[in-house]
Amino acid sequence: MSVLVAEPRAPGATDGALAPAPRVRVEQLSAWFGSRRVVHDVSIDCPSGGVTAIIGPSGCGKSTVLRCVNRLHETVPGARTSGRILLDHADVYDERVNPVSIRRRIGMVFQRATPFPHWSIRENVLAAARAAGGTHDIIVEQALERAALWREVKDRLHHPATALSIGQQQRLCVARALAARPDVLLLDEPTAALDPISTQRIEELVYELRGALTVVIVTHNMQQAARVSDQTVFMLAGDVIEADATDTLVTRPRDPRTEAYITGRFG
Ligand SMILES: Nc1ncnc2c1ncn2[C@@H]1O[C@H](COP(=O)(O)OP(=O)(O)OP(=O)(O)O)[C@@H](O)[C@H]1O
Ligand SMILES: [Mg+2]
Repeated sequence: MSVLVAEPRAPGATDGALAPAPRVRVEQLSAWFGSRRVVHDVSIDCPSGGVTAIIGPSGCGKSTVLRCVNRLHETVPGARTSGRILLDHADVYDERVNPVSIRRRIGMVFQRATPFPHWSIRENVLAAARAAGGTHDIIVEQALERAALWREVKDRLHHPATALSIGQQQRLCVARALAARPDVLLLDEPTAALDPISTQRIEELVYELRGALTVVIVTHNMQQAARVSDQTVFMLAGDVIEADATDTLVTRPRDPRTEAYITGRFG
């Protein structure tokens, strides 16, 4: 078993060819909060450079699965996992692996916007970008541009992040995640607080990132899953019910529970 390197890969770096985006494999993952198991033997294979959507009703374990992938779940007191998460064949939970290095390689945007409140817009973007190198002004502009926020904040980069609307704060978090140049990006309902135009920009970004990053996106919006993802995983009460190419899952689901969910008959 190989050990993961600590430093993030830097897409766009000039010092050599880009490594392909890593493949993420979730194998027989279970997750507990205390004695309550909320994820049951879940296996998901996220292809290199692909976009995987996770859908399912509220409380079915989508965020928990994401939080297991970058080892955030274990930071909750009493929480634990079993099974394996592999990043390019290396076990994310290997005891020699530093969880902080995992969270650098596997970036995440949370369901609720989480900017550092006392920091400026600029400092938020740069917060995780130190290791990525490059000129700060360029990193800040590129990340904000890609997150569809640059135009709105370019004249007030030194204002506090809390001076932004919730939707802007969410896009700031997308910019912060991108500025760290992760290999994998986990997006937990990134557009839930956004207007249609910002939502479209974020969807375009996810589409653009295809190939360079391996993306896992949780969404409640079937149309969004259909627009941005290559494969979709449907979860229910901690189980994966069905996983397939998005086109297939959306148009010809095999399981009646998947069909009921995507046609809006429950959930
Ligand atoms: N910190 C926590 N402590 C205890 N139980 C938790 C905690 N966070 C989540 N849970 C429970 O774990 C289960 C899965 O929650 P999770 O947040 O993964 O669901 P979800 O599919 O992301 O839902 P939503 O669509 O509402 O975000 C739920 O039953 C939830 O109540
Ligand atoms: Mg959630």
